[in-house]
Amino acid sequence: MKISITETDQSRISDVDFDNLQFGRVFSDHMLEMVYKDGSWQKAEIKPYGPVQFTPSMQALHYGQAIFEGMKAYHVDDETIHLFRPKDHHQRLNNSARRLCMPELDEEVFIKGLEKLIALDHKWVPKERSHALYVRPFMFASEEYLAAKSSKEYRFYVITSPVAAYYSEGFNPVKLTTSEKFVRAVRGGTGEAKAAGNYAASFLPAQKAQSKGFTQVIWLDAIENRYIEEVGTMNIFFKIKDKLVTPELTGSVLPGITRRSVIAIAKEWGMKVEERKVAIDEILESYESGNLEEVFGSGTAAVISPVGLIHHGGETIQLDQQKIGPFAKKMYDTITGIQYGKIDDPFGWTHPISLD
Ligand code: COI
Repeated sequence: MKISITETDQSRISDVDFDNLQFGRVFSDHMLEMVYKDGSWQKAEIKPYGPVQFTPSMQALHYGQAIFEGMKAYHVDDETIHLFRPKDHHQRLNNSARRLCMPELDEEVFIKGLEKLIALDHKWVPKERSHALYVRPFMFASEEYLAAKSSKEYRFYVITSPVAAYYSEGFNPVKLTTSEKFVRAVRGGTGEAKAAGNYAASFLPAQKAQSKGFTQVIWLDAIENRYIEEVGTMNIFFKIKDKLVTPELTGSVLPGITRRSVIAIAKEWGMKVEERKVAIDEILESYESGNLEEVFGSGTAAVISPVGLIHHGGETIQLDQQKIGPFAKKMYDTITGIQYGKIDDPFGWTHPISLD
């Protein structure tokens, strides 16, 4: 499998202020592009990052047939860069593709494409701990056709972006509220796929929450408006005494790869982990009885993000977390320690990128 590479003759890296990175504002010199037509994926190309041409009748613009992934590459030392769990991201991309009636990608092309792209732009991987190169693979329907049916043509891209923390709060706890009116996803819908439209549908409720001083919405299930699902930008965990509790994957929750990593690490530590239905009332009760010790979110972009406040109906859970709780901090240190190659990876999650 050959990937053609056209290098830029004008790197933009000297324009980047690596000391003041935000999330997703600057993009590395190159991108990967692959076209699907006549029933198969064509040869992958790596080329300079820049605008791409498409027609206004392209199906993705009208019917939202679009999916994406988010993963990160970490600077270990000047000779070593780690990608985190790329094969799991590949599997999830293909799960999303199946749900959205899009073509799947071969693992070999996906992994080799990532390796070559990241090796070419390795200087863009930030060196500072807590910063990383965010890797965004995405696929959309590109056929020029207004019929509301699955496209026969697709494009797949990978772009990369040096990033700092996702939430401007950094390690300061985020504030969440439930929504009485809106839902994120319903079982049987697209909630467990990483479909672009899931995010678009969350913007209005998120904006309303933000106008009231909250960071994000914590979503409840769409049927009973009772069971906690996720936060839209991250999965959620509750430390209730010596147990770690997280909503089960019911079909409307995104199966987070950081979520899976948190569960594996906690189990490795001998902790009792419960993946099950978690009613918001149960969390309110465990807060009132003093058993709710910590709440945190997990995600590729968010990493481990402490939650300081949850608002539901007339009630408020206010956690006594000045910054990040001790359990979430230990989890953050362990996951990022593995990602940045500072501690052993007994799980085989890190994928070194060869820079030769
Ligand atoms: C990620 O964590 O990679 C995501 O895709 C979430 C996105 C809202 C930035």
